[in-house]
Amino acid sequence: MAAALYDPEDGYYARPAGQVGKAGDFITSVSIGPLFGRLLARHIAAWHQNSGSPERWRVLETGANDGSLAADIITGLERLSADAGLEYVIIEPLPHLARIQRKRVPGAAVLESATLLADDPLPTFVFGNEVIDALLFHVIESDGTRWLELGVAVDENGTFLWHPLGPAAAEVVENLPVMPAGYRTEVRGRSVREFLQPLASSMAGGRMLWIDYGFPRDDYYHEARTTGTLRTFSRHRAGEDPLDSPGEIDITAHVDFTGLAADIDAVGGQVIRFEPQGRFLTHVARPWLLEMEGRTDDDAKKDLRAFQTLTHPGHLGSRFHVMEAAF
Ligand SMILES: C[S@@+](CC[C@H](N)C(=O)[O-])C[C@H]1O[C@@H](n2cnc3c(N)ncnc32)[C@H](O)[C@@H]1O
Repeated sequence: MAAALYDPEDGYYARPAGQVGKAGDFITSVSIGPLFGRLLARHIAAWHQNSGSPERWRVLETGANDGSLAADIITGLERLSADAGLEYVIIEPLPHLARIQRKRVPGAAVLESATLLADDPLPTFVFGNEVIDALLFHVIESDGTRWLELGVAVDENGTFLWHPLGPAAAEVVENLPVMPAGYRTEVRGRSVREFLQPLASSMAGGRMLWIDYGFPRDDYYHEARTTGTLRTFSRHRAGEDPLDSPGEIDITAHVDFTGLAADIDAVGGQVIRFEPQGRFLTHVARPWLLEMEGRTDDDAKKDLRAFQTLTHPGHLGSRFHVMEAAF
């Protein structure tokens, strides 16, 4: 998975950008238009004000892709006159995406890793949209008595095959009950904590907010979910075989939000919000909706349509959940 998605030359995310969006392989809330970023800007501005408007502060974005969301949030904060003292930082390990982001968002600093900020911790709002689902995971399968981790082998024809690695999965399975033989699922093991730790170390208090698709643990590892949540995406078509065309398709699995909360706790945070995206954005948008009242111009109509797509349970409103933590 690391090679298929993140190899700096052949990985899926290392290709020239264009995976996300209507012309790409899948859409995210960012593809709906600038409203998503503008509403996040309101939420960030409210946090900054409620924490006494620190003079120097940071917004730290992960998985910034082509920089569109960063640009929308910065514009949103400027329009609210809430950008004084702001340092907007993008953490981007892939060099070609970093180049695109520097060009698209000249006002942001783009760093390879958050460890570079550990010497200068600031009050910070850390976030990522659909990033946790893109972190590495292990595929595991029950043989009825224990979990086996599945690795990838190549047969004599050069075809990729699943192959049981044995009970090495014990280290990553932690507390998961053994399921009936053949039950296949995914676990992220240590990858989430390792991702969160440097981000947490760069904060002198603040918030972390993760938006993603996923379930609490009981739902995730439900008896009926026998083939897990692994999906591939290419040209808006979902598939289930990550060994098909590695490097050319996205590979993702839902987020175990119970596990994410435990990992947040382990790096010093406390979860203060877990709710569907629709409810979160409707709450954040209240003052904006009042401003929109009575407007019938084309811009307003466009924004209201985008708001519906982002919040309606039949669209993106219940597909995504928001987990926010205080530090
Ligand atoms: C599904 S895309 C989401 C893009 C964007 N946030 C959006 O909503 O349109 C996932 C992104 O997470 C990034 N990513 C994955 N692992 C990462 C890591 N360890 N650090 C920073 N970014 C990472 C990928 O490179 C990719 O750009």
